[in-house]
Amino acid sequence: MSVGIDEISFYTSNYFLDLKNLATVQEIDAEKYYQGIGQEKMGMPAPDEDVVTMAANAALPLIERVGTDAISTVMFATETGIDQSKSAGVYVHRLLGLTPNCRVVELKQACYSATAAIQMGCALVARQPNQKVLVIASDVARYDLDTSGEATQGCGAVAMLITANPRLVELDPEVGNHTEDVMDFWRPNYRSTALVDGKYSTKIYLKSLKYAWEHFREVSSLAFSDMQHFCYHLPFTRMAQKAHKHLARVNKSNLTPELLDRQVEDTLLYNRIIGNSYTASMYIGLASLLENCKHNLAGKRVGFFSYGSGCVAEFFSGKVVAGYEKYLHGDKHQLMLAARSEVSYDEYLKLYNDIDPVDGGEHVKAEGTTGRFRLVGISHHKREYISC
Ligand code: HMG
Repeated sequence: MSVGIDEISFYTSNYFLDLKNLATVQEIDAEKYYQGIGQEKMGMPAPDEDVVTMAANAALPLIERVGTDAISTVMFATETGIDQSKSAGVYVHRLLGLTPNCRVVELKQACYSATAAIQMGCALVARQPNQKVLVIASDVARYDLDTSGEATQGCGAVAMLITANPRLVELDPEVGNHTEDVMDFWRPNYRSTALVDGKYSTKIYLKSLKYAWEHFREVSSLAFSDMQHFCYHLPFTRMAQKAHKHLARVNKSNLTPELLDRQVEDTLLYNRIIGNSYTASMYIGLASLLENCKHNLAGKRVGFFSYGSGCVAEFFSGKVVAGYEKYLHGDKHQLMLAARSEVSYDEYLKLYNDIDPVDGGEHVKAEGTTGRFRLVGISHHKREYISC
């Protein structure tokens, strides 16, 4: 029996800022963003949208197919927590109409936690193969204005069904890990934006890739040349291109830079126009690969590098299942991305500054999202969600 990803669906906000507008305000060349970091647009959540509504929107197509009774566990990965105690997943559980017998838990380790959720989901399914685990990763990437991180903001959620005999990707059981206590990126509880030592974070990312890969090689018989495509955590798309060349050097690969670029390029298409979505970003990259690669991927092995600042990293692999293309949501994703509205720099600032009130009063959220779920208000410190 194999275990892995049976279905994948993602969601992002209907608003985006084109980074050329940010560059104009900053009086710099837009090519720094388009080429230098490899990002074109960044998604901005609507005022009535948060990790819960994005997560429910991402998961809805999966639940519409399998039904609400099928899900035994929801694992909600995020670093944009809305509560120190209650899992954001419990709100999603109600919005999706899941059964009271379905357990829900939230997981945190920066951008890495969706991978932990997937591995734990696989372990549950390996024990009880009739179970279906819903893994959701949902985040809003926020940095201070006028900092080097600002252009790497974004938002999005991804939902994946973890099952036995999956229809998309069979995950190999061997994984390589690297954990180290570092301060490359963090967000203390009292802040709504992350703090980051940007250049240092890119160095730690590459160092963790090398160590996680070396651990993977100790436990797995698979080599670099056994993998045809690679999905990297995507804080910005240039990071993946650099990381892949770094991994090729570690492996003394003789593939040309063009061939190496080809092994990652299809994973980058969505993130380039969505931005960083932290926990969700590598898996939106997987959806991008499966939905946009012009070659049939059946039987091809994909290497995954999941990185969460602080830091925990994991290298793992999986094989694409024959017939996978019949079970994708590519058309829906592309329609959603094409229907987004561009915001001006001033509108971006308004969305950016619309943060949650903390006074316990009654606050109604302005309408903005075109998604199925809305955060209608926050009243007496309680968040109120509806399905439209
Ligand atoms: P910066 O200092 O503004 O950028 O920030 P830069 O000056 O290094 O320029 C970036 C690149 O653009 C350079 O290329 C320039 O040469 C190039 P490189 O040397 O890197 O190859 N460039 C141009 N190219 C073409 N035309 C031009 C031009 N001008 C310059 N005119 C930095 C970059 C990544 C530091 C910043 O965006 C940042 O702090 N971002 C946030 C942190 C981050 O994303 N770190 C990534 C690793 S950590 C991670 O992935 C975890 C994370 O997702 C969080 C989590 O785990 O929860 C962040």
